[in-house]
Amino acid sequence: MEIKQPPSGAGALASQRTPRQIVQELDRYVIGQEKAKRAVAIALRNRWRRQQVPDSLRDEILPANIIMIGSTGVGKTEIARRLAKLAGAPFVKVEASKFTEVGYVGRDCESIIRDLTDLAVNLVRAEKAEEVQESAESATENRLLDMLVPKSRAFAQEDAAEPGTAEVGEDGRWTRTREKMLDLLRAGRLEDRVVELNVASKGFPLIEVLSGPGMEQMEFNLREMLGGMMPKRGKRRKVTVAEARRIVFQEESEKLVDMDKVVAEAIERLENTGIVFLDELDKIAGPKSTTGPDVSREGVQRDLLPIVEGSTVPTKYGMVRTDHVLFVAAGAFHAVKPSDLVPELQGRFPIRVELDNLTRDDFVRILTEPENALVMQYKALLEAEGVRCEFTEEAILEIASVAYVANEEMENIGARRLHTVMTALLEETLFSVPDGGEREVRVTAETVKERLRDIVKDADLSRYIL
Ligand SMILES: Nc1ncnc2c1ncn2[C@@H]1O[C@H](COP(=O)(O)OP(=O)(O)OP(=O)(O)O)[C@@H](O)[C@H]1O
Ligand SMILES: [Mg+2]
Repeated sequence: MEIKQPPSGAGALASQRTPRQIVQELDRYVIGQEKAKRAVAIALRNRWRRQQVPDSLRDEILPANIIMIGSTGVGKTEIARRLAKLAGAPFVKVEASKFTEVGYVGRDCESIIRDLTDLAVNLVRAEKAEEVQESAESATENRLLDMLVPKSRAFAQEDAAEPGTAEVGEDGRWTRTREKMLDLLRAGRLEDRVVELNVASKGFPLIEVLSGPGMEQMEFNLREMLGGMMPKRGKRRKVTVAEARRIVFQEESEKLVDMDKVVAEAIERLENTGIVFLDELDKIAGPKSTTGPDVSREGVQRDLLPIVEGSTVPTKYGMVRTDHVLFVAAGAFHAVKPSDLVPELQGRFPIRVELDNLTRDDFVRILTEPENALVMQYKALLEAEGVRCEFTEEAILEIASVAYVANEEMENIGARRLHTVMTALLEETLFSVPDGGEREVRVTAETVKERLRDIVKDADLSRYIL
């Protein structure tokens, strides 16, 4: 289905998608897992719905955070990744377990929100930069021309001459030269020409001596303060036109983008549409009241609680409220249950969806259907060598079977198994193809059986290879 009326930013675009359309988008990359797709699609649409609600009620509608439960390699992270892309919303993914690491003092949970803020600002800045791109490009062109055909000579002439005499010719020549240069420039014929450029060396190299929770903020303030005190050092550098264009374009678009507006919009968008993906949530859940690392697990949960419940986090761009940020958590939850989380946190994740284990049929589809399907990736890689590669239907079935059986007999690593099987299968081809004369590779069920037979037969070998 097409979406009518082109909306301004990517954020607006996604929010207009209906849940069904969102699921359709996810279907392009993720096979199966309908329940999870529906849940995230509804959550995403609810963000937009909330925006339409009258002010008084809007604040009352809290995001319904989601926990995705499923074994490893069944698509949890994949769903989150694709969702982020199509949401156009500020999105960060963090491993909850990383906050438990012993001796890990550098990060507190608020850093998630600081990262999200940075991301939101970059996102909005990029959007704004795109809006001013044309103006920035023409300004860049002008400045490049100034470098290529400096006006100084013409000016000098003008100053020296009597008004209304020779300098008109001089000036005319300058204009004509400039026009010619512009043509050459646009034709890309001056890219390697060297010009001199004033490069403002921004920033102040501050050695990272500050660390620990909260220090990031302080360090930033310090950096900004010192940066303001230091005189802007300019440096003349000789660079090629190609590089100069890049630098000047950067400067020009920075000039045209109003950073105050960017920050305001970024924070507003983050507060209303931001998404945090908390991976490995099960790693911080656990039977409580034991000593040792479990204490820190519960500590992490307590630390997470305020931002999930809604609090105000100081960032370098100002205060950010997290009340309406959507949290999508994921975990295998094999040894522990969501009910092992502290009650307050459980209550903040009212929606639980289970992802199914993948079947042999799913494997067949995962191999071929997604737009980034493995089979297509390998075909494209071999194409780069000028080799056409073809997989018969039976071959795909066979690959899926081998992967499925390997999952059953060894550890179940879900769709990740397909990667190992595919690499084992194509190793020989990928190695020898550039030297051999064959321009066509046909992978049949026989090929698969033959190449993987030894590995599959030998349990020890397959443990290492598959
Ligand atoms: N349902 C699926 N459809 C398409 N591809 C999938 C599916 N499930 C997994 N994959 C592929 O398998 C790989 C691993 O999936 P993913 O990272 O989503 O696993 P996960 O569920 O997050 O596992 P973990 O619990 O280990 O983090 C990815 O390359 C992904 O493309
Ligand atoms: Mg994952």
